Amino acid sequence: MIKKGIILAGGMGTRMSPLTKAVNKQLLPIYDKPLIFYPLSILMLAKIKDVLIIVNKGQLDQYKKIIPNGKKLGIKITYIEQDKPRGLPDAFILGEHFIKKQSVAMILGDNFFYGQSLSKMLNKCIKINKGAKVILHKVLDPEKFGVAKIKKNKILAIKEKPKKFVSDLAITGLYFFDKNVVKYSKQLKPSIRNELEITDLLNKYKKRNNLSAEFIGRGGAWLDTGSIEDFYKTSNFVSAIENQQGFKIACLEEISLNNKWITKKEITASIKFYGNCQYSNYLKKIIT
Ligand code: G1P
Repeated sequence: MIKKGIILAGGMGTRMSPLTKAVNKQLLPIYDKPLIFYPLSILMLAKIKDVLIIVNKGQLDQYKKIIPNGKKLGIKITYIEQDKPRGLPDAFILGEHFIKKQSVAMILGDNFFYGQSLSKMLNKCIKINKGAKVILHKVLDPEKFGVAKIKKNKILAIKEKPKKFVSDLAITGLYFFDKNVVKYSKQLKPSIRNELEITDLLNKYKKRNNLSAEFIGRGGAWLDTGSIEDFYKTSNFVSAIENQQGFKIACLEEISLNNKWITKKEITASIKFYGNCQYSNYLKKIIT
């Protein structure tokens, strides 16, 4: 059973400059909350209570202002600063002491997931204790992502940003790994873009017949908020759903309450912390 999760929230956000000159990308708004709430909500929906957030050097204070330690959410949050981005698998090398030879989930700080069957899928994913698991989603522009070629649910090939068509199934930024992840990550060599590649790590599992996949079908959404356009697209999506249904996506306190990790007392403390705002009004509604 996977009990730990990492959010990789480093990166310089150069594609979104000047917005990201003073503020980390994951703290910018997706509609009514900071982007980081969304990947954190996914780990919490997976019932993961022990979370490591990897942030850029010098940006820790920004994060601590909004999510100091997880106490009000009934979870434990630890931070590590990364002096420079070295690729996704570097998260496991940096997080070695956090992982402690256990299995671990990782989500990229800028990935957005939504869908009714998500919790059920997450519940299945955290049960792996051997091998690795990726989550796949069909896209129109596979050349922008890591992709997986599949036949009868078996992964035949994994490629990072293929120039020639391999598959239209993108590997989303949510991964589940067994305890070998640290060891395998340390064996990786940097690619031509001088980074450790997640696809190279996944290929290590595939070579050992230890890689499996789950799918987000057409009833679910995965959005990678890598560019300014993507940010607005995702914001519009959240706004459309929230204002139609009256439910909030990625309301962390609501998830904690549903998981029975906190009581109304902690929610009242959160309302005080956020102040007089729409998000607090929503929290008030939850506890009355
Ligand atoms: C990274 C991974 C890629 C994955 C993508 C998901 O891409 O390398 O395999 O499909 O995240 O968001 P990058 O953000 O480094 O371009």
